Amino acid sequence: MSIYLVTGSNRGIGLEYCRQLKERGHDVIATCRSSSPELDALGVRVENGVDISSGSSVLNLKQKLGGLQIDVLIQNAGIAEFNSLSNLDPQSVVRQFEVNALSPLCFVHSFLGNLINGSKVVLMTSRMGSIDDNTSGGSYGYRMSKAALCMAGKSLSIDLSSNGISVAILHPGLVSTRMTGFTSNGITVKQSVNGLLARIDELNLQNSGTFWHSNGDILPW
Ligand SMILES: NC(=O)c1ccc[n+]([C@@H]2O[C@H](COP(=O)([O-])OP(=O)(O)OC[C@H]3O[C@@H](n4cnc5c(N)ncnc54)[C@H](OP(=O)(O)O)[C@@H]3O)[C@@H](O)[C@H]2O)c1
Repeated sequence: MSIYLVTGSNRGIGLEYCRQLKERGHDVIATCRSSSPELDALGVRVENGVDISSGSSVLNLKQKLGGLQIDVLIQNAGIAEFNSLSNLDPQSVVRQFEVNALSPLCFVHSFLGNLINGSKVVLMTSRMGSIDDNTSGGSYGYRMSKAALCMAGKSLSIDLSSNGISVAILHPGLVSTRMTGFTSNGITVKQSVNGLLARIDELNLQNSGTFWHSNGDILPW
């Protein structure tokens, strides 16, 4: 049994992470801005009022957790606002950069003291953050923010290796959630999280810093 902390856990992929981790018998700290009936029904520890882009709410969580050991920190919270070139909104680009790239890095930094030798950090990025894989353009804020998150994850994997902490940079697949308008082309959260947990299970110091699809494919930067 391990202790997992999941951000953005009230719905979508984060909620499914909590469900499957609880089923596996782990202790789950589910953080969210505002809980949901589905999350409350899981019977995991729910920490409400955690906005990853708010320094004071992250500090508040840090004080509540104290010296609690975290075995796996899953930074899942994120936003997607699709900006086209003809509809460029700099504020939207900055907002996505703040929530999807800067805040995850600061969140991990805030909880470094709770991680131990053997702990794992998981960053939920997107293949839309892959420069090599970009064949359709657009989505400036989302693509730029997730590319920056990939870079943060790679640096973290290097900087934390001497502490015995490994880092996974994960793409969940195209998943039917509110973020994708519950697309019928996507896989289910259950399918996605099955794969994501398999990647987290196989994460170690040797493969730390890899950019994986939930299906196990290694994605190009
Ligand atoms: N779905 C896909 O196909 C797909 C593909 C590639 C990558 N991803 C990534 O996977 C992750 C989960 O996506 P999803 O599909 O589950 O999206 P989702 O259903 O829209 O859920 C997003 C979650 O992030 C939370 N969140 C947003 N901003 C936050 C903030 N400032 N502080 C704390 N929580 C915040 C939301 O909380 P609220 O309810 O409070 O807004 C919600 O719990 C995201 O990082 C996303 O970029 C998803």
